[in-house]
Amino acid sequence: MTTDRHDARPPYAGTRYPRLAEVPAFTEWIATGWDDRTPAPDLVAGQAAASAAHRRRLSDAMPGTTIVAASGTAPTRNDDSAYGFRADSSFVWLTGCQAEDAVLVMRAGPDGHDAILFLPPPFRPGETGFFADAAHGELWVGPSAGLAEWSEALGIEVRPRAELESVLSRATGASVTRAAAAALAGWAPSAELERTLSRLRMVKDDWEIAQLREAVDATVEGFSQVASEIPRALADGLGERWLQGTFDRLARTRGNGPGYATIVGAGAHAPTLHWVRCDGDLVPGELLLLDMGVEARSLYTADVTRTIPVTGSFSPEQRAVHDLVERAHRAGLDRIRPGTEYLDFHFAAMEVIAQGLHDWGLLPVSVDEALSPKGQQHRRYLACGIGHHLGLDVHDCSQAHYEDYMGAPLEQGVVMTVEPGLYFHAHDLTLPPELRGIGVRIEDDVLVTASGSEVLSDALPIDAAGLERWTRERIR
Ligand code: GLY
Ligand code: MN
Repeated sequence: MTTDRHDARPPYAGTRYPRLAEVPAFTEWIATGWDDRTPAPDLVAGQAAASAAHRRRLSDAMPGTTIVAASGTAPTRNDDSAYGFRADSSFVWLTGCQAEDAVLVMRAGPDGHDAILFLPPPFRPGETGFFADAAHGELWVGPSAGLAEWSEALGIEVRPRAELESVLSRATGASVTRAAAAALAGWAPSAELERTLSRLRMVKDDWEIAQLREAVDATVEGFSQVASEIPRALADGLGERWLQGTFDRLARTRGNGPGYATIVGAGAHAPTLHWVRCDGDLVPGELLLLDMGVEARSLYTADVTRTIPVTGSFSPEQRAVHDLVERAHRAGLDRIRPGTEYLDFHFAAMEVIAQGLHDWGLLPVSVDEALSPKGQQHRRYLACGIGHHLGLDVHDCSQAHYEDYMGAPLEQGVVMTVEPGLYFHAHDLTLPPELRGIGVRIEDDVLVTASGSEVLSDALPIDAAGLERWTRERIR
C-alpha cells in the first residue's frame, strides 16, 4: 500500500517546538534588512508646552519635594490579554505622554525641580525583544519612538525604564502619585501630592480649554449621529446597543474614545443613573436619556446629557418633568461666575427641584424642611451629585479637599458640568402611575470666564420644544 503525501505527517511533527531566540539561522536572518524608520512620539500639538507649564506650577506648589508620577499599566483581562491602556491623567497633565509603564521623576533642587522621564525603550531589529517581546518589540507593536525622540519632543531628559530603580532608591522622602505607588514596589501614595494635583488641575489654561472645546464639539456631533440612528434602531430592533455603538465609534474616530462608559437609557432605563448596560429596546413614545462624552486625542473629555423623545414629541407628563429639570438647570447655570462658591449652583438648582416636587404633592414635608441639611427628602428622586469638575477625567480633580472644591469660590478657567435631573423609577410606589418610569437629565459643560460663564455644549437645545425640533430634524 502506498502512502499518499497528503496523509503523511509533516516532516518535523512530534519534534519539540523551537524557541525562535535559540535558532541562530532565524535570529541572524531577522536581525537585518529593515529600514530605520523611527516615528515621532504621538503627541497632540501644543501638549508638550502645556505639560512643561504644568510641571512648573507643580514645582512652585511643592518646593523641596521630589515628585514621582506614573502612567500605569493596562489591567489584565485574562491570561496575556489586557484591557485597553489609558494613561493616568495626572501623569498626562505633567508630561503629555500617553506611553504605558512610563514614570516621571521631578527631583527637587535648590533652583526648583528637574524632570526625568523613564520609558521602556522599544526593541529594534537586532535585539531579541524585536520579535520576542509582545509589549515592546517593534514586530508586535510597530515602529515606535525611542528615548531620543521623546526627549526631543518633550524637551526633557528621557532614560530607559530599567534605570528608574537606582534613581528612586536615592529619592528618600519623595511624594508619589497613586498611579506611581501602584506601579512601583515599596512606595505609598502621597495624599498631599494628589490633593495638590487636583487643586492645580482645576484651573484650565488656554490650551486645555481648546482641548475641551474640541471634545465637546465632537460630542455634539455624536449626539446628532445617535439621534439619526433612532429610526434604524427602532425598525430593526437594534435598541440601545446600536445607539451606544454609534456614539462609541464616533468617539473613537474623532477622539481617543468615549471618556466614560456611554449611557443610553431608553424608557424605564432612563431613571437608572448609570445605565451602562445599554442592552434594552427602544420604545416609541418613550424617552431616551443619552449621557455621552468624547475623550479627545489629548485625553480631555466632554460629558453631556440630553433626554429626547424617541419619536420626536414629549407626552404632557414627560414634558412637565423636563420643564422642571430645565428650570433647575437654568437656575444652576445662573450661579456660575468667578467668586460664587462652587456649591451655589447646586443649592439654586435643588431649590427649584424641591419646590416643583412639592407643587406636585410628592414631598412629605415642606420645601424648607426638605432643603435643610437634616431633610433632603427631594433627593429620593435625585440622589446623585448634579455637577463636577471636568478635564482629563470626567470627574476631574476628585482628590481635592472639600475646602478646595465644594466650598471654594469659582475661578476663571474652571470647567465643570451642571446636570440636574429627576429620576422617577418604574417601581417607586410614592409616584402617581403616570410619572413612573420617567427619567430626565440635562447636562452641560460650562467654562467659568472672567465675567461669568460660557456653556460649551450650547449647540444642543435644553428646552423641550427645542429638543423636539432637534430630534425631528434627525429622525425624519
Ligand atoms: N456623565 C457621567 C457622570 O457624570 O457620572
Ligand atoms: Mn457628569
